[in-house]
Formats: sequence, C-alpha cells, structure tokens
Amino acid sequence: MSNLLSKEFNHFYLEDCNLNKIAEEIGTPCYIYSKKQILENYARLSEALAGIDHLICFAVKSNSNLSILKLFSELGSGFDTVSGGELLRVQSINADNNKVVFSGVGKNEDEILIGLRNGIHCFNIESEQELLFINKIAKDQNLTANISIRVNPNVDAKTHPYISTGLKENKFGIDQLDALKIYKQAASLSNISIKGIDCHIGSQITSFQSFNDAFKIIAELIINLESENIFIEHIDIGGGIGISYENESIPSLTEYAQIIRNTLGAFNKKIILEPGRLLIGNAGILLTKVQFTKDNQLKSFAIVDSAMNDLMRPSLYNAYHKIINLTHSDQNINKLFDIVGPICETGDFLGKDRTMNLNQNDLLAILDCGAYGFSMSSNYNTRPRAAEIMVDGNSYSIIRHRERFEDLIKNELSCLNQK
Ligand code: LLP
Repeated sequence: MSNLLSKEFNHFYLEDCNLNKIAEEIGTPCYIYSKKQILENYARLSEALAGIDHLICFAVKSNSNLSILKLFSELGSGFDTVSGGELLRVQSINADNNKVVFSGVGKNEDEILIGLRNGIHCFNIESEQELLFINKIAKDQNLTANISIRVNPNVDAKTHPYISTGLKENKFGIDQLDALKIYKQAASLSNISIKGIDCHIGSQITSFQSFNDAFKIIAELIINLESENIFIEHIDIGGGIGISYENESIPSLTEYAQIIRNTLGAFNKKIILEPGRLLIGNAGILLTKVQFTKDNQLKSFAIVDSAMNDLMRPSLYNAYHKIINLTHSDQNINKLFDIVGPICETGDFLGKDRTMNLNQNDLLAILDCGAYGFSMSSNYNTRPRAAEIMVDGNSYSIIRHRERFEDLIKNELSCLNQK
C-alpha cells in the first residue's frame, strides 16, 4: 500500500478522512489531495536546501488549481509559469510577482504583456527572436523586461523522450555554444535587464548525474559571462526531480542539494528551482469506481468511470500508476486485469496487466496523480472534468466543482442561438 493511505476496519483513509465516504458524498471520478503531504513535500525540499540562498517556484503546469497555488503561496513559494493563463492564475491568488518566472518556447505578445505589466521577476528566454520581440514590446510599453537565458546544455536527462528537454534534438533553450553571444546581445538592448541564467533538462529525472552534468555546464557559462563583464543575480536550475511511481529508487534530496553546492555553490548566487512533480505528485489520488467487469480467454477488464481524459499519463507516456482496490482489498482471488476507461480508444487505459481482485462497484484509488493528472485532463468524448478535493486532517473541501454538461457546451450554445 502507499504511504499516503491508511486502512482501519476495512476502510481507507487519506489523512483522517474516510475515502469511501468522500466517494459517496462527492461521487467519482474525483481527484483528492492531502494538504499534509503537500506541506511535508515542501518542508523536505526546503530543509534539504538549508544554507543555500534559494527560491522555490512551484511549476504551475503540474497542478494549477487555485487552492493549491494559494497554499504554495502561503508557504512562501514563487511560481514557474508557462502561459498567459498560468500568469493570470497566479495573479488571481495575489502571488508575489517578484517570485514569478515565465518559461516556455513560444510566448505570444498578449502573454508577454501580462508578464511585463505585472512586473514579474523574470522571463526565461528561449530564442534570439524571442529576446528581440520582448525588447520591442517592453520598449513600446516603456517598461524593462527582466530576463534569463534558458540554456540547452545538451545533457541527456535519461527520462521518457517526450519529457526530456535538455538535448540538442529538443526544441528547448538556446544552444550552450550560442548562449554567450545572445547574452552579449541582450546586454546591448535598451529595455532588457539581465537577471539570471536558466536551464531545465527534463522531468521525472531519477539519475541525478544528469543534473550534475547540466549544472557544470551552467557554471562554465557563468564564468565566461563574467569574463565578458556580464553579471547575473540568480541561477534557475529548473525542475525535474523524479518521484517513485513503481518503487523506483530516487536519490535523496540531500544528494540533490549537494550537487547544487558542488557545481554552483562557489558563485554565491540565488538558486531558483522550478519543481512541480516533487511537490505535488505523491499528494494526490484519483478515486474511481468499477462500472463493469468482463473476461475473455486472455484476460479480464475492469471498466472504470474515469478515463484517459481524466488521467492521460498512462495513455501518453505508458506511465505506471499503482492502483489499489479500496473495497475488496483483502480477498485473494486474483486475476490479470486491464483497468480501462469508457472512451472509444484502445489507448484508453489506466493500468495494464494488474493482478487484482476487481468487482463491479469497487472503489479504486489510482495513486501519485497529484502532478500532471487533473492539469492534463480534457473533455474528450464530452466528459465533464472530475471534481477536485483537498483533505486536511479530518475534514475535506471541494477545491473544484465537477464540471457540468452546461459548462461544456456554453461557448457553443451561444453561437447556435445567434443563427
Ligand atoms: N520548469 C520547466 C521549464 C518545465 O518545463 C517543467 C515541466 C518544470 C519546470 C517542472 O518539472 P517537474 O519538476 O514537474 O518535473 N506531463 C508530463 C510532465 C511534463 C513536464 C513538462 N515540464 C508528465 O505527466 O510526466
């Protein structure tokens, strides 16, 4: 079983809340987060970084629920955003703009304006054209854009190819060999202020050697910059620390902090981190109910009421999430099940080849869904997105209502009525 859930008299609890009861009251599918686990994750990272001048900027894309952003903000966290929408989300919880960075390869004019007008801490620049574009917009507005250059260090993060970002073949960042030239150019622009250097090599990284290699390249670049009289204030080392989904062993955060000290410590600059998964991944579960089961000669299927539109990671990356039966956890008549959704695609699965005992109406918990779960969900097959709930001790609150059919069609309905 997971560390997150506990079991008492055949009932499963998240913190002190009975999950079967939440399912009855709220319905399924629903995402449920543990506040306690989020606080623990944040404290663990902060403690590991003790002694390093740092700023944690939670990666909003991993989970952008306003209540969760608010919680991080109260903890003192800043935010890593990648779109105008995410910038507006952090505005709506009154985040400290001095702690907001804006990443992403294709920022458009409207998005840049949102960042500029709110005076965010930094734009992470991904191309020469973007640098010139931001300078022009800032000039028109009579404002100055704070920037870092995102360097592509050509380091293999040894993760799923879709979420590896630090190799030459990936669209991200500016080639390490061109970075110095672009920094010099940035220094010459009227409405640009150079604040830092940035790199993010990928996500779900379990080999910390990759961080070490990337940070060393950043260190070399900082030395080269200084020899050109370009001085930076911060080093943004991105996110990417992996979590254990299937009992993978992950090096400790102490080790991660030691890598930072060894490679970048000598510069005495503020370290910005952009963790997402590490802070929220293990704090969330997806509750779902078995609708039907059926067998053929090869295997059995449990058709549940959540699907790839609710949790896309298994379909998209063949990602593994542990699945626990909260109703029949003790019986040992086990069969080989695929846990699948109702969507009309064979790729719609949440777990494959799981040896379990599953029956109609059983309540299941899909674990480690706090990051890139709800935030990647969609309305495919006109399925309303799930409710989101936050548990805190023995009480829980809805932090996002389940979507209704009316929410899904309202932008179309208004067009229909025009005709
Ligand atoms: N900073 C930047 C610039 C990023 O692109 C990302 C994630 C992060 C920080 C946060 O990375 P984390 O600490 O969460 O690994 N949907 C995928 C993950 C995509 C990650 C994209 N970038 C998944 O479900 O595994």
